[in-house]
Amino acid sequence: MDLGIKNKVALVAASSRGLGKAIAFKLSREGAKVVICARNKERLFKTGEEIAAETGGVLKAIVADVREKKQVSEMVEQTVKELGTIDILVSNAGGPPSGMADDFGLNDYTDALELNLLSTVNLCYEVIPYMKKKKWGRIINLTSVAAKQPIDSLILSNTARAGVLGFSKSLSNQVAAYGITVNSICPGYTKTERVEELAKSFEESGKGTVKDFYNNIQKNIPAGRLGTPEEIAQAAAFLASEGAGYITGVALQVDGGYIKSSF
Ligand SMILES: NC(=O)c1ccc[n+]([C@@H]2O[C@H](COP(=O)([O-])OP(=O)(O)OC[C@H]3O[C@@H](n4cnc5c(N)ncnc54)[C@H](OP(=O)(O)O)[C@@H]3O)[C@@H](O)[C@H]2O)c1
Repeated sequence: MDLGIKNKVALVAASSRGLGKAIAFKLSREGAKVVICARNKERLFKTGEEIAAETGGVLKAIVADVREKKQVSEMVEQTVKELGTIDILVSNAGGPPSGMADDFGLNDYTDALELNLLSTVNLCYEVIPYMKKKKWGRIINLTSVAAKQPIDSLILSNTARAGVLGFSKSLSNQVAAYGITVNSICPGYTKTERVEELAKSFEESGKGTVKDFYNNIQKNIPAGRLGTPEEIAQAAAFLASEGAGYITGVALQVDGGYIKSSF
């Protein structure tokens, strides 16, 4: 299926590994010119080289922290200067620490909102003027199933990510007339390096084995397994496609059935 995004310019935030990297890979395979970013330069550049070598596409790696307004502005400016515009935005960031209400104070909520909500708002504000000019745009905000179905041990994530859904839906209504769609993806448990690290530290802390870690998660997933980063990337690529132009304001869970609600 031709997604119709050949030569479109895609900015994929927080993408030196995990979900962001898989999405950048997929968009590059589909012929988009892709910009990736992260904080750690070495890993970012290695990922950039890996993607470009495999797809042969135009790939730029820019070191930027999505919490830093100035760094994001400079990244967007550089992208537009070198590639002409931004047609597709995938907003993403690392996750906040896990914990319950008693574990955190107001500063922790401020940090989580900056990392997962305000970074998304800022990225959207940065790219929309270019999309409006071209009367075409695709914005995909990565959140979590926790935005729809709070997970007890992730109170910071539950709080920040629900905000992303509210913002995305509001924004989608306000830019639809410009041919810009705004959708969110709510990934369920997906086997990225981060989840593999969590499994290892679970075992190291004596709570059980790596196998126990995965079994505990899988028993709540009707599909009986974790997702793969590529499965999240497939959904993102579809939402970025020409053919998805009438899909906007959606919060798409990609979770093997984890969310219990029918909404
Ligand atoms: N994997 C899952 O099961 C799952 C499920 C639901 C939601 N999520 C959420 O989806 C997001 C991605 O998850 P993941 O598993 O792919 O995480 P990951 O493997 O830890 O990858 C995170 C990526 O984001 C970059 N990053 C982190 N903080 C950043 C910042 N402030 N500015 C720029 N780049 C930053 C990291 O590079 P640097 O560290 O070098 O910056 C890395 O490239 C997270 O928010 C996570 O909580 C994940």
